[in-house]
Amino acid sequence: MRVPVGIVGAGPAGLLLSQLLALRGVESVVVEIRSRAYCEARQRAGVLEDGSVRLLRQADVATRLDQLGLEHGGIYLQFGGERHHIDFRELTGGRSVTVYAQTEVVKDLIRQRLAQGGVVEFEVTDTEIDHLDTDQPVLRYTRPDGTRCELACDAIAGCDGFHGISRQRIPAGLLSTTERGYPYAWLGILADVPPSTDELIYAHHQRGFALHSLRSPALSRLYLQVDPDESVGNWPDERIWDELAHRFELPGSGWTLRQGPILDKSITPMRSFVAAPMRYGRLFLAGDAAHIVPPTGAKGLNLAIADVAVLAPALDYLLRGKPELADAYSATCLDRVWRSTHFSWWMTTMLHRTPGADDLEAQLQLAQLRYVVSSRAAATSLAENYTGYPILDL
Ligand code: FAD
Ligand code: DHB
Repeated sequence: MRVPVGIVGAGPAGLLLSQLLALRGVESVVVEIRSRAYCEARQRAGVLEDGSVRLLRQADVATRLDQLGLEHGGIYLQFGGERHHIDFRELTGGRSVTVYAQTEVVKDLIRQRLAQGGVVEFEVTDTEIDHLDTDQPVLRYTRPDGTRCELACDAIAGCDGFHGISRQRIPAGLLSTTERGYPYAWLGILADVPPSTDELIYAHHQRGFALHSLRSPALSRLYLQVDPDESVGNWPDERIWDELAHRFELPGSGWTLRQGPILDKSITPMRSFVAAPMRYGRLFLAGDAAHIVPPTGAKGLNLAIADVAVLAPALDYLLRGKPELADAYSATCLDRVWRSTHFSWWMTTMLHRTPGADDLEAQLQLAQLRYVVSSRAAATSLAENYTGYPILDL
């Protein structure tokens, strides 16, 4: 079978790319190793930049986002027993972010692709990419019924996340990778309890970082810094709530953390990783397949969306004999990727406790936090980075 674009991975990057290509009249096939139910339930990110929301609207997948997304005009930074509001709207001339879970973005995209006759093949095995030294790369996979399929493509998009196969297909000498691990991880929970706050709280605490986010007026999403080798089994619900209550405590304020049944619990390691270039011949990497940021800046999902906003027109033009945008793809994306990598590193190292660190580190973190909440220039820098950078229009 022939298809213009083969897409590996039905995460936000692969699905949105397929949708953006369809709007340009370019057909694609998405192949995914997991089931549809698994992809739609995997708890991950929750913050969309304005540019991401605008792009999802242009891509015709924002009906539920517009109904259920919660617009937020700021965050709280908490440290030294005080909570400070950073007002994004006021600092940036009206910019905000929208809290809408990645699970819902993925559900909306899958539903729209299938409703419009798009092909998304779930639960495939043995995905292979071949003939990358030609203009007709091949994508092979096996359907759940055992049928082996082979797609002759004009281009393949590797949107298969950090652990996928696509990046490995780029010859080692042609790919440079830059990586740093962090000596901590996040324990994330989804709880059936109304949020205890009107804006997200990023809390610096001597016992470690904590983040209070939300999913709806009835559901809370919270994260705790834990050791990277921690297992969920060591964290019964009561221990999680005690630790969260302690790290968010505001003595004398009357504020309390509401508790409720925990619906989901998982631990995520943290790393910065960038692979360059994001292209080899007719193979293009997008999203986590090419780069990972620690989650503290809420950038991972937004970067995946921004990559495919650049990739869709680049592939459309490439297939019509105009390679300029495809040739510029990697450099265009890496500019944003490195900005986000810096911001995510900065937020992460300002807010987390490094095990075994001396007192200098904690004092420098507190000095930086005091500067951010007292200098308009510093607060504007955080607000500008957090709310994001413009995305190409379709
Ligand atoms: P993914 O969402 O990873 O999608 C890749 C898809 O490819 C997956 O569905 C996978 O099953 C599929 N795949 C893999 N291999 C193959 C193969 N061989 N063949 C076919 N399909 C394949 N970001 C934040 O901003 N905040 C957060 O709190 C946050 N939490 C996270 C928690 C976890 C556990 C992880 C892993 C990431 C988290 N992120 C977070 C990052 C954010 O969710 C990602 O940046 C985002 O999912 C990237 O989208 P993607 O489409 O590039 O990759
Ligand atoms: C969420 C995740 C993040 O990484 C972040 O910085 C803010 C919010 C969330 O899942 O809601």
